[in-house]
Amino acid sequence: MPKITVHDLLKKKAEKRKITMLTAYDYPFAKIVDEAGIDGIIVGDSLAMVVQGLENTLPVTMDEMVYHTKIVARAVSNAIVIGDMPFMSYQASIGDAVRNAGRFLKEAGASAVKIEGGAEVAEHIRAMTKSDIPVMAHIGLTPQSIHRMGGYKIQGRTKEAAERLIEEAHITEDAGAFSLILEAIPAELAARITKELTIPTIGIGAGPSCDGQVLVLHDVIGLFERFLPKFAKRYVNVKDEVLRAIKNYKEEVENGLFPSDEHSFK
Ligand code: KIV
Repeated sequence: MPKITVHDLLKKKAEKRKITMLTAYDYPFAKIVDEAGIDGIIVGDSLAMVVQGLENTLPVTMDEMVYHTKIVARAVSNAIVIGDMPFMSYQASIGDAVRNAGRFLKEAGASAVKIEGGAEVAEHIRAMTKSDIPVMAHIGLTPQSIHRMGGYKIQGRTKEAAERLIEEAHITEDAGAFSLILEAIPAELAARITKELTIPTIGIGAGPSCDGQVLVLHDVIGLFERFLPKFAKRYVNVKDEVLRAIKNYKEEVENGLFPSDEHSFK
């Protein structure tokens, strides 16, 4: 199967076929996500929380993002790999944005990048796109703005806020984004944005009408315990399975059952 491109995602929207995305941060999980036939893997800055154990996404660095994106890209044969621009890798200048976005393609092997924000990053999106870097935008709840937003809160609930988000969505499309993440906004608002845009919307907590869905892998498989957002669904509890296996191993070692003859050399 040939590698999925931004054109395939646009085609899926045109043909009304749902797009599937998940995050991944390392080789073994990226390989499984790819084998499952997921269209896109976002190496999200959520890795700060679910892999690095940090309080929020702000501290993860560009070098760390490039490292994780590189090992994900190495594992993937089909899915499009999208590197997530971390906090302060693009806010200070358009030059920063282009240079850092370029690192995801040049050093890490990603095919696109994701950037949080709407109107305030329109010029960044335009400059990155001009440099042949496909950009996915991200509006609604943008976790890098946690301090401005005062927490992880649903966005676009008032009429004014909803109108603003519709405007921002158009601005990102006009700036050249190939796709748009809609995070934690009312389903009806997401449906309207999805209908108005020609680029695919990918929802996370934005209801069923988006052109596609994305979730944080560690929420889906039960590897992040601190909290489970209302919009996330846990399909399996891998933590319990791994815990059972490790306890079993410990018990067998302590009781002299492992290694047995089968696992020893003559
Ligand atoms: O960092 C992240 O995991 C995200 C998701 C919305 C994909 O931004």
